Amino acid sequence: MAFPHDRLRRLRATDGLRRMARETRLSADNLIAPFFVVEGQDVRQPIGSMPGQWRLSVDHLIKDAGDVHALGVPAVILFGIPALKDEIGSEAWNPGGIVPRAVHALKDRIPGLVVITDVCVDEYTTHGHCGVVRNGRILNDESLEGLQKMALSHARAGADMVAPSDMMDGRVRAIRGKLDAEGFDQVSILAYAAKFASCFYGPFREAADSSPKFGDRQSYQMDPANLREALREIELDVEEGADIVMVKPALPYLDVVRAARAAFRHPIAAYQVSGEYSMIKAAAQRGWLDERRAMLETLISIRRAGADLILTYFAKEAAGALRA
Ligand code: PBG
Repeated sequence: MAFPHDRLRRLRATDGLRRMARETRLSADNLIAPFFVVEGQDVRQPIGSMPGQWRLSVDHLIKDAGDVHALGVPAVILFGIPALKDEIGSEAWNPGGIVPRAVHALKDRIPGLVVITDVCVDEYTTHGHCGVVRNGRILNDESLEGLQKMALSHARAGADMVAPSDMMDGRVRAIRGKLDAEGFDQVSILAYAAKFASCFYGPFREAADSSPKFGDRQSYQMDPANLREALREIELDVEEGADIVMVKPALPYLDVVRAARAAFRHPIAAYQVSGEYSMIKAAAQRGWLDERRAMLETLISIRRAGADLILTYFAKEAAGALRA
C-alpha cells in the first residue's frame, strides 16, 4: 500500500502531531558542559576562536557552572590551563594545581554537580604532546604513570569522573588500577575511546594553548578513515574498565557513534568539539546560518546516531532553548 493511501505528511501537520511522532529526544540531562579554568582571580578571558567561551578563574567558574547546572545540565568537564609547563607536564599532578583547586571549589559550592576532569598532559607540556617525548617520539608506557598521578590528584580533590583523552594504549587499565588501589573505586572513567586525529580541535588548541610544537598527533590519535579500528579502541577501553566510552569529534563521525551504540551496552558519549562549535558560531555571525536551529539540529542528530551524552560548548544555550 502506498500513495494515496499512505500520506506521511499527516503526522507533520501540527506542532502537537510532530511532538507525538518525534523519535528522538534531546534533554539537558544529555549534556556535559566543558570549561577552561585558569589561575588567578576575577579572570574572564574571551577565547577568540570560540565566541561565547572564556578562560575562567575559579570564582567565575563557580558562577558559570552554577548557571548551567541551574538550567538542568548535570555535569561539567574541566580543562586546566596551568601557569607552568615543563618537559613532562609535572604541574598536571600537582595536588595544589588549577584543576584540583577548581574541583574542590565546585564540589564545595555546587555539591549536586557532577564534576568530570580531562586527564591529559598536553596543556602542561612545553612540547604540547599528550605524553612523554624522547628523541622526537611520543612514548606510550612511559606516559602512563603521569596519567595515573594526574587522575589520582583529581580524584583526591573530589572529582566524580576522570576522562583520559591522551590515546595512549593501556591508560584506562592503568588509571582504573591506580584509583582502586588508592581507595577511589567509586570514581568513574569516561574514556575518550575513539578519538580521531582531527582538524576540528583547532580552536581548542588556541583556547588551551596546547598545540604540539613539533609534528602532529597522528601517531596516537586515530586515522579519520577507520571505523573498525574505532570499535577495537572502544572494546579495549571497555575491557580495561571504562564506564562510559566516547567518540570524538561528533558530527563527522556519526557512523562511528551509530556503530558503537549497536556494538556496546555502555553509555556512549560524543564530543561536539571546538571546531564544530566555532563553525556554527562563525556562520551565524555572518548571518549565513540560524545559530539556534543549527545548534539544536546538530545536537539532535548526535542523539539520533545513538549518543546518550553530548559534550558541547552549546550546553548552556541548548539547555536554555530546551527550557523555553
Ligand atoms: C586533549 C584534548 C583535546 C581536546 C579535548 N582534550 C585537544 C587535542 O587532542 O588536541 C579537544 C576538544 C575540542 O576541540 O573541543 N587534552
